[in-house]
Amino acid sequence: MDPPSVTPDEDTSHPPARRPGGAVLIAAAAAIGGFLFGYDTAVINGAVDAIKAEFHLSALVLGTAVSAALLGGAIGAWFAGPLADRIGRVRVMLITALMFAVSAVGSGLAIGPISLTAWRAVAGMAVGAASVVVPAYIAEISPAGKRGRLGSLQQLAIVIGICAALLTDYALATSAGGARNDVPWGGTAWRWMLASAAFPAALYGLLALRIPESPRYLVRRHRDEQAREVLQRYVGDGERLGEIRRSLAGTKQTIELADLRGRSARDRRFGLLPIVWIGIVLAALQQLVGINVIFYYSTTLWRAVGFTENDALLTSVITSLINLTGTFVAIALIDRVGRKPLLTVGAAGMALTLATLVWCFSRATGTGENLTLAPGVDVVALLAANLYVLSFAASWGPTLWVLLGEMFNNQIRVTAVAVAGAAQWIANWLVTISFPSLADVSLPLTYGIFTAFAALALVFVQRFLPETKGRELEAM
Ligand code: GLC
Repeated sequence: MDPPSVTPDEDTSHPPARRPGGAVLIAAAAAIGGFLFGYDTAVINGAVDAIKAEFHLSALVLGTAVSAALLGGAIGAWFAGPLADRIGRVRVMLITALMFAVSAVGSGLAIGPISLTAWRAVAGMAVGAASVVVPAYIAEISPAGKRGRLGSLQQLAIVIGICAALLTDYALATSAGGARNDVPWGGTAWRWMLASAAFPAALYGLLALRIPESPRYLVRRHRDEQAREVLQRYVGDGERLGEIRRSLAGTKQTIELADLRGRSARDRRFGLLPIVWIGIVLAALQQLVGINVIFYYSTTLWRAVGFTENDALLTSVITSLINLTGTFVAIALIDRVGRKPLLTVGAAGMALTLATLVWCFSRATGTGENLTLAPGVDVVALLAANLYVLSFAASWGPTLWVLLGEMFNNQIRVTAVAVAGAAQWIANWLVTISFPSLADVSLPLTYGIFTAFAALALVFVQRFLPETKGRELEAM
């Protein structure tokens, strides 16, 4: 069945009226995919210790089970692009919603580490698919002047998803008196944590049934009249159709990896089109600055500052609120100052705050669980870490997803986003899996590496990134 792009009772002989705020509503509905992205990656936090105890897992097996979702993310991102060209953006969202729901229930009912790892990998694939199809879809249904703000809804949803997962974990653990205990209505708390994602997943599926297909996809499929209606109604510009048609003239129905290599000898020199490389490097850098070390391992960090477990949890909640605040700053600025200045200032802020953390940790005594920071230095570390999150949230967090949605032309868009998205998930996995061992070797060294990547990010943006603010997708 085709997802409805127009409601049947509408008279199609007149141009449909513009729906004020319509683009915001459908972008917000699509961005629930981002909410599930944040929710599913963060919800495991509260369950980890209980899972380890219940299945008697070694640190290695636990690490594999936890990071399975990130590798699944790379796989999901990789396949979602070509699939979205073949069957449409909205159908991929529907499949994603189903995978989110099934994997949530499956993880909640897991009978051992293998089934848990498998279900978490399926959840990861859904997260990866959402990370590709949502930014591309939002860019494709947005008017050019609002595209940055609407695209940032994805990151806003991710961040709200992270907060919601942390709060759900906290609520379930407290009502059961610990993640390993049963909740009053039956079943173990950690199982409910993992299963709870099924509720937003069902909502996502229902909303995805109601949103129109992307006009750029419709033109690709020669459904021009439907495309014109969607453009008229949501972008307020049915005439854009001609330009979209021209930009897609002669394009194959589905773009494969080989098509990202370009046609001219100059394009082929680097194996892939230069713009695709820029996307891949940007996406990897967003992770290589170490942001998820804060979101996945913050307890270790805050305990080093001398906090008890409860205080550490509270601090994580505060950090995720700072993350939320920073996202609003980005939304306010992105279409005004542009993507490039935002990324430049953000990278500089991250490099400075990370370098401050290097300084703090180089003055610490002890290692691992026994690490301690002198009074005064601990306050500096706490401030630096939160300013680091603020710098990320107001820049690289949302801007990467906006850029990935808009920086590629109509012909290669979703396939190119898929490749960059997969690079983002692999980089995330590499950082997550190597952090515990690297931190054991040396915390200043680990944060030194993140600092170097933040500095590199600054130089890279200055040197290679084209500004995309306000430009039509057809002009990319
Ligand atoms: C971005 C990153 C994601 C991270 C989040 C934190 O969306 O891509 O990995 O968890 O920001 O806010």
